[in-house]
Amino acid sequence: MSHAPGKTRIRASTLGLLLAVWAAPLFAQQAPGTLDFNYFMNEVQPIFLAKRDGSVRCIQCHTRSSLFRLQELEEHQLFWTEEQSRKNFESASSLVLPSDDPLKSRFLTHPLATAAGGDPFHGGGKHFPSQLDPEWRIMADWVAGYTARREPASTNVRIIQTNAAGDNSTIIDPVTNTVVGEITDIEIPHGIVGAPDGSQVYITNEAMHSLDIVDSRTLRVKRRIPLSGRPNNLGVTKDGSTVYVAIMEMPGALDVIDVASMTNIKTIPVNGAIHNVYVTPDSRYAVGGSIQTSTINVVDTSTNEVVWELKMSSGIRPMTFNTKADGSTDKIFVQLSDFHGFAVVDFDQRKEVARIEHPAVPGYEAHYDGLQAAPAHGLAVSPDGKTLWSTSKVYGHVYIHSLPDLQEIGRVFVGQHPEWITFTPDGKTAYMGAAGDNTTYAVDAATMKAVAKIPVGQVPKRIAMVWMQAD
Ligand code: HEC
Repeated sequence: MSHAPGKTRIRASTLGLLLAVWAAPLFAQQAPGTLDFNYFMNEVQPIFLAKRDGSVRCIQCHTRSSLFRLQELEEHQLFWTEEQSRKNFESASSLVLPSDDPLKSRFLTHPLATAAGGDPFHGGGKHFPSQLDPEWRIMADWVAGYTARREPASTNVRIIQTNAAGDNSTIIDPVTNTVVGEITDIEIPHGIVGAPDGSQVYITNEAMHSLDIVDSRTLRVKRRIPLSGRPNNLGVTKDGSTVYVAIMEMPGALDVIDVASMTNIKTIPVNGAIHNVYVTPDSRYAVGGSIQTSTINVVDTSTNEVVWELKMSSGIRPMTFNTKADGSTDKIFVQLSDFHGFAVVDFDQRKEVARIEHPAVPGYEAHYDGLQAAPAHGLAVSPDGKTLWSTSKVYGHVYIHSLPDLQEIGRVFVGQHPEWITFTPDGKTAYMGAAGDNTTYAVDAATMKAVAKIPVGQVPKRIAMVWMQAD
C-alpha cells in the first residue's frame, strides 16, 4: 500500500484514535467462542462447590434448575469428571453474553450484590459483595476470555496455624504478628504445606480423607483429592510438583499427588501407618515415620519406592533434617514416643548416632496430662542450619541446641502443650502452636524471647511458613 506524501501526515491525536480502534478487538474482553474450558473446569468450578459463610453452596440448588444447571456429584465424589465439567461448561456459557462489559452476563450479575452492580434478585441470594471479590473476579476473568491464572500482584510470607480441634486454619502475617485471614470448610485439618510459587496451599483433611488444595487468593478449597485412607501430615517437593501424604492406617502407605494433574498417582506401601512425612531439603527423599512400627521409611522421590528403613526404639514422632555443604541430607533429628528429647540418625550410615534428653526446667511444674505418649513433639532446624529447636509438652518450653555440636544454648517458655515449630524464611522468628492455650507463640531467634502471643483457634498444632499470592 502506498500513500502520497503529505497524506500520511496524520496528527498524533488522530493516530491515537485510529490505533485504539484498530487495537480494540485485541483487547476486547470477550468474543464468541473464546470461553476456555480448562480455566472453567479448574478455576471456576471450585466456586460452585465452596461453602461461603451464611450462604448455601451453588451446587445445592443448581443441579435441579433449568438454565444454570450443574451435574450431580455421586456420593463420595469430590469433583466433577471432565465429561460432567463439559456439561457444566455448556450451561454456564449459555448465560454469558459476549461483551467487554461483565455486567451484561447473567452468570456474573445474578450472584453479585445489587449495590456492587449485580441485578436486583437471585433466588439463591447474593454471594459476592463486590466486584473485587476474588471468587467473582475468577468468574469474570473466565467470561473475559482468560485461559490461565492471573499473574500475582505480590506474594507474601504467611504463617498458617492449623487448629486440630477447630474447623479452621488461622493465617498470620509475621510482619505484624496479627491474624489476617482464615481457611474454613476443612473440618479436621491435619497438616499444611504451601506451593513454592504461592499459588495454593495443601491441607490434609482427616474428616473427608482428602488432600485439599486451597487457592491463595480466595482462601477456599479449590479441589479435594481422594486419598487411600485417613491422612496425617504431608510434604511437598522444592519444585512444587509433588505432594506426599502420610496415610495413618495400617498396613501403612504414602500417597503421591501429582500437582499439575491434581491426581493421586501412587500409593506407596511402607512399613506401618504413617504419622508424619517430610521431603528432605534436597527433595531427593520422602521420609515417613510410623508410630505403630517405630520405623523410619525412606522413599526415593525419583522412583517412588522405599530405599531403606530404620527401626528405632519407639514410635516415630516429628522429624527434621540438616544438610551437608552440598545440600544433601546430613542427619535426621527425630522425636520418639515416650522420650523427652530427640534422637539423631546419620542419613548415610542409616543408624542412630546420638540421643539428647531434655532436662527439667527449674521452677516449672511438669505436666503429664494428655501427652499422647509424645512428651517432646515439635522439631525444626533454623533456616541458617545453625540451631535445632525442640518443644516439650511436659515443661511448655522450646529447647534450643547449637548445630552440629548439639549443645543446649537456651530455652524459652512457649505456652501449654507446644506442638510444632516453623520459621520465617529469614530465620528471625520462630512460631509454635501452644495447643493448650489456643495461642501461637512468636519467638525472636536472636534474643530467644517470646515477642508475640497470637490468639488462634481450638487446639493449634501443625504450623507452617508458606508463601501466599496476594491479589
Ligand atoms: C438457595 C438456592 C440457590 C443457590 C445456593 C444458588 N442459586 Fe442461583 N438460582 C437459584 C434460583 C431459585 C434461581 C432462579 C430464580 C432466579 O433467577 O433468581 C437461580 C438462578 C441463577 C442464575 C440465572 C440462571 C438460572 O438458572 O435461572 C444464575 C447464573 C445463578 N443462579 C448462579 C448461581 C451461582 C453462581 C451460585 C453460587 C455462587 C448460585 N446461583 C447459588 C437458586 C440458588
